[in-house]
Amino acid sequence: MGLKIAVAGKGGSGKTTVSVLLARVLSNNGGKVLLVDLDSDPNLGPALGLPAGGASPLVTRKDLIAERTGSTGEPGGMFILNPKVADILGKYSLKVSDAVSLLPVGTIETAGEGCFCPQTAFVRALLGRLVLSKDESVILDLEAGLEAFGRSAVEGLDLLLIVIEAGMRSVDTARRILGMAPAMGIRNVRVVANKVRPGRLAFLKEKLRAEGIPIDIVLPYSDELARRDLEGRPVLDYADAGFEREAEAVLGNL
Ligand SMILES: Nc1ncnc2c1ncn2[C@@H]1O[C@H](COP(=O)(O)OP(=O)(O)OP(=O)(O)O)[C@@H](O)[C@H]1O
Ligand SMILES: [Mg+2]
Repeated sequence: MGLKIAVAGKGGSGKTTVSVLLARVLSNNGGKVLLVDLDSDPNLGPALGLPAGGASPLVTRKDLIAERTGSTGEPGGMFILNPKVADILGKYSLKVSDAVSLLPVGTIETAGEGCFCPQTAFVRALLGRLVLSKDESVILDLEAGLEAFGRSAVEGLDLLLIVIEAGMRSVDTARRILGMAPAMGIRNVRVVANKVRPGRLAFLKEKLRAEGIPIDIVLPYSDELARRDLEGRPVLDYADAGFEREAEAVLGNL
């Protein structure tokens, strides 16, 4: 059985990088992986080696949203709450390799609490009814929080990974997400400490332990990762033995 995993955390903390490296771990272990880009500034594609700007996020395709929800685009207009989405994966996912594919969805712009628009209906239907093949896992690369996606994103979630950087601002975000998780019925939440510089791990661990936040996976700061981003090179083939070992342990213990 494949897993449903969501990756959350502060902007720039490394959600996309961690999503891709996790896909690598799952595929190395013989699984198939669908990566779902739920970011308004989609960069999973380039991180997977697909051309930048290659596929526009589904929520920005006005014709598709109109076709599926019957929306005219008029604010406050009528639309179908439960649109047909069964064929979306087959039509719009992009193949990265035999084991990995990408669905560029984009994010729902919430104009305020309780905003429910045609895009929301579309994304919720899509996430709620992803039909995956046997042994195919799904990794949701989220924007900041989980709120916008509601139950559709978290329903049946096997694991929520929160990415933090060695800085207290990203820990604030992690604390907020951790606080929300139980009410959303998320059973397993684990923390990834990213961009950790040599000699800083012990301090970070100590500081977080005092708050009751254990670090489960560490991805050290890597000049190679930074350079790949600068040069627009993919990270799917980037190997970090410690990350892979710890990620496998987390996945194995779910
Ligand atoms: N372990 C690491 N070592 C060095 N650089 C890293 C590491 N992890 C991520 N980065 C770099 O940090 C930047 C942000 O990473 P990434 O895009 O994965 O974060 P994100 O949380 O998805 O960002 P956003 O919120 O913009 O979607 C990128 O330039 C990436 O290459
Ligand atoms: Mg990202």
